[in-house]
Amino acid sequence: QSLTEIKKRGKLIVGTEPTFPPFEFVDEKNQVVGFDIDIANELAKRLGVKLEIVNLPFDSLIPALLQGKIDLIIAGMTITEERAKVVDFSKPYFEANQAIVVRKDGRFEPKKLEELVGKKVAVQLGTTGDLVISEINGIQVVRFQKFTDAFLELQNGRVDAVVLDEAPAKAYVKKFPKFLISAVIDTGETYGIAVKKGNKELLNFVNQTLDILKGSGVYNKLIQKWFE
Ligand code: ARG
Repeated sequence: QSLTEIKKRGKLIVGTEPTFPPFEFVDEKNQVVGFDIDIANELAKRLGVKLEIVNLPFDSLIPALLQGKIDLIIAGMTITEERAKVVDFSKPYFEANQAIVVRKDGRFEPKKLEELVGKKVAVQLGTTGDLVISEINGIQVVRFQKFTDAFLELQNGRVDAVVLDEAPAKAYVKKFPKFLISAVIDTGETYGIAVKKGNKELLNFVNQTLDILKGSGVYNKLIQKWFE
C-alpha cells in the first residue's frame, strides 16, 4: 500500500489489539481510544484521509500486515529482532519494561521472575511478556488473547500473576484496586510502528510524522493526556 494508494482509497487502515490501556482500549462509549490511536489519527490527518481501526488478536497483527489487510500496526509493539525480520519498524516512540501484577492479599509478592517458578502466570499470546516468561523453566504459562481475560483469571484466583508491559500494568492496577505491581523487570524495550517490509514511502512518512509530533510538542501533550 503506497502512499498514493492510501490517499486514493481515502483511508488509512491501522491494526491494533485494544486491551492495552492507555495505548489502546475500549472506553465507556465503546470506542477504541488511547495514545496509539491519537498517533494513528495524526498520521491519517496529515495524509488527508480517514482512519480505520481494525481490532485483531495481538499475534494476528503481523500476519494481517503481511497479507496487506492493514497498512500499519500501532499496538504498543516492541521492536524485536525476530519481528524486524518480517516487518519494518519506525523509530522507537516509547520505552517500556515488563511488570508482574498480583492480587493485593499479601500472600504472593514476587520481586523477581525466578519467583514465578511453580506458579501459574497469565500473559497475552505472542507478546514479549509471553517470551520472557516462557524462557524460564518451570513456570506454568497461561496464554490469553485479551489482557482483560488474563486479569479476570487473576481476580478469580485461577492464575497467580499476570506479566505485561509496565504502563498497561499501571492502568489495570488503577482500575482494579485489588491488584498491585509487585515488581518491574528491566527489559529495556522500545515500541515501534510496523509497516510491511520494504514499504519505504510509508515508513518515511511515519518517521517524519513522529519527528514533527515530537518537535511541535504534540507528542508531549499526548503523553500528558494519557499518562498523568
Ligand atoms: N510490548 C509488548 C509486545 O510487543 C506487548 C504489546 C501488546 N499490545 C497490545 N496492543 N495488546 O509484545
